[in-house]
Amino acid sequence: MIFLEIINWKELLYPYAQAVDELLLKFRSVDKECRNLGMYSPIDAVTGRLKRPSSILEKAGRKQIPPDKIAEEIEDIAGIRILCQFVEDIPKVIDMVRQRKDMTVIEERDYINHTKPSGYRSYHIIIRYPLHTALGEKQVFAEIQIRTNAMNFWATAEHSLRYKYSGNIPQELQDRLKNCAEAAFRLDTEMATIREEIMNAKRLNEIKNNLVTNILENIQNLYFVAKLDDMNEINREFIRIWNGEDMDALREFNEKLNIMAEMYRV
Ligand code: GTP
Ligand code: MG
Repeated sequence: MIFLEIINWKELLYPYAQAVDELLLKFRSVDKECRNLGMYSPIDAVTGRLKRPSSILEKAGRKQIPPDKIAEEIEDIAGIRILCQFVEDIPKVIDMVRQRKDMTVIEERDYINHTKPSGYRSYHIIIRYPLHTALGEKQVFAEIQIRTNAMNFWATAEHSLRYKYSGNIPQELQDRLKNCAEAAFRLDTEMATIREEIMNAKRLNEIKNNLVTNILENIQNLYFVAKLDDMNEINREFIRIWNGEDMDALREFNEKLNIMAEMYRV
């Protein structure tokens, strides 16, 4: 009954699509920057989605929200999901969101310390986000879900079943889902015990990748100025060091290339 009014979906959704795009870019940039700096990034991946009209209608119907109140009362039309490798990364991401000056935290829901009866675990932050559109500034709500990959694996599987059974998942299946949720929780707990090792390995891999990128750039630049014989020698040396997998040797080699480049410059 309440949906007799016509909703201009294109007009309604356009700003939220922009918000999703911007938020994706912003959080992916933070992740990328951490990695470029050789720092451990608490973010593993960021995804985003625009709520589909059918889901908006379903939620509005369920919560008795009239069409003209949809934008004010449905806070998850724009949604992004930040995936973490470890539970310990989640507070870091939460702080990251709280400290940003380009969005305002409106509400936080901690379904990690307060697991839902379904077994759902995740941390939700509702933000108010200012958009700069062709028609001026416009504030929209957006939902940021922060969870581990294990929590996400469970939630996406459960979501598909919930959808298939229109929310009435048979008891037997619910019980098995509960078991899966417990297994996901145990996986998170087990992974926490090797977090330090994984963090160090990731950091080291990143430093090595950056170093090799640097070396290859240096070699490429030297091609323009150095003698061919010297370049052949440099290439042979690079292959030898590269195969040796020795970080210090790589670092020394890069230093040597830097000095060579400097010499050619003067
Ligand atoms: P809706 O569930 O969309 O009505 O939102 P709400 O206003 O009740 O907020 P809530 O924090 O309960 O849920 C927000 C979002 O979290 C949902 O849209 C889902 O994406 C996710 N979510 C919440 N509970 C569950 C759950 O039991 N299973 C799964 N798979 N996802 C859930
Ligand atoms: Mg809900």
